[in-house]
Amino acid sequence: MIQLIRGFKDILPGETALWQKIEETAKGLFEDFGYSEIRLPILEQTELFARSIGENTDIVEKEMYTFPDGRRGLITLRPEATASAVRSYIQHKMYGKDPVQKLYTVGPMFRRERPQKGRYRQFYQIDAEVFGIESPHIDAQIIFMLVSLFKRLDVSDVNVHLNSLGCPCCRPKYKEALIALIGKAEGELCSDCARRKDKNPLRVLDCKVPACREAVANAPSILEYLCADCDKHFTVVKSALEKQGVAYKIDSNLVRGLDYYTRTIFEIQTTSLGAQSAVAGGGRYDGLIEALGGPSQPAIGFAIGFDRLVEIMAQSSPDLSRKLDLFIIAVGEKAKDLGYEWGCELALSGVLSDMDMGDRSLKSLMKRADKLKAANVLIVGDRELEEGAVTLRNMGSRDQVSIPLDGVVEGILKALPQRD
Ligand code: HAM
Repeated sequence: MIQLIRGFKDILPGETALWQKIEETAKGLFEDFGYSEIRLPILEQTELFARSIGENTDIVEKEMYTFPDGRRGLITLRPEATASAVRSYIQHKMYGKDPVQKLYTVGPMFRRERPQKGRYRQFYQIDAEVFGIESPHIDAQIIFMLVSLFKRLDVSDVNVHLNSLGCPCCRPKYKEALIALIGKAEGELCSDCARRKDKNPLRVLDCKVPACREAVANAPSILEYLCADCDKHFTVVKSALEKQGVAYKIDSNLVRGLDYYTRTIFEIQTTSLGAQSAVAGGGRYDGLIEALGGPSQPAIGFAIGFDRLVEIMAQSSPDLSRKLDLFIIAVGEKAKDLGYEWGCELALSGVLSDMDMGDRSLKSLMKRADKLKAANVLIVGDRELEEGAVTLRNMGSRDQVSIPLDGVVEGILKALPQRD
């Protein structure tokens, strides 16, 4: 039998209700904060990701699904959405209409990572991006919005980790200090860190390999190297969050796996998912729009790991799948003809009904209604047709009402409890 590819998964009918609930809640909240949906392509030119995420990152070095596409050269299944959102902002000159754009998008991303719980090769993100706002208040607000989403979804095991990566003015000095420190441990670093230490020394801070941890155990904090502007920016972000009661933890080892970040970066971490503790991550990337050929405009955003959020919520969520309002027990050809039509009309009025279209006895149809956990059954057979009325039975209370055939659908709608 042909199986799905490792690291890919089916999201089955019993599971999709939770995905839908999360997506609707996120969209509702983001739109209340002034964000609009953007839908972006899944394939982009490889160069877009190489230039934005960075040549010396795990994602670009070894995790992208890249293949040649004739004369167009290399194309890549998107590993994230930020680069595409920036490309779209530039390509459609959105900044001409209004440099400030608040966008969100939901969809699949692809990274060829080693699959494990919470880590897939096709995974989903709920992503939000803001272009054109420099004020630290937008940093605080985007974190506030993200934390509010978790609250609205009743997810409490989450902690905000916060750091600042400085800017092209102050970060080089920190990089230099770090390179000097790491240099002392040369030869002990893992192969990734050894290769990247000069171009991307900050990644060593985030490496899980014990020798690399050891090498940076006494590393200075990047926060001590921030220039006056970056320091002031970070102070305003922190105080705005404090005023709003958003708890956060300063984590000066937080570096993130993408190179475009400047100043504020953050992650939402959880203890419910084992090794894959980040359920969302993001930050400011003030240089990216210009680096990709657009105007000099600041930007900030985040992405939620949708699969991870679902996994946290599935541990405590009740069954969200829709319940059957009505099972139509139709015995005989004429009854089935009518039952079929009523079912269609009821669906248009928002009533979920079902009917067995085969030739089964009343007894076996009652059993089927029980199995499907129908809230009500409607019984229609030759006798009901002769008498000109059908029977509607509530399966919980066992109460029955008779509904005249004339105007039967309206009668059923009136008799059923109000739905929302
Ligand atoms: P990221 O940290 O690479 O950031 O991914 C964001 C979230 O996606 C992670 O925190 C994690 O929950 C989820 N995620 C990442 N890789 C996987 C995987 N293989 N399987 C399951 N979930 C995964 C970004 O992608 C940035 N574009 C976020 C951003 C937006 N920064 C600014 N704007």
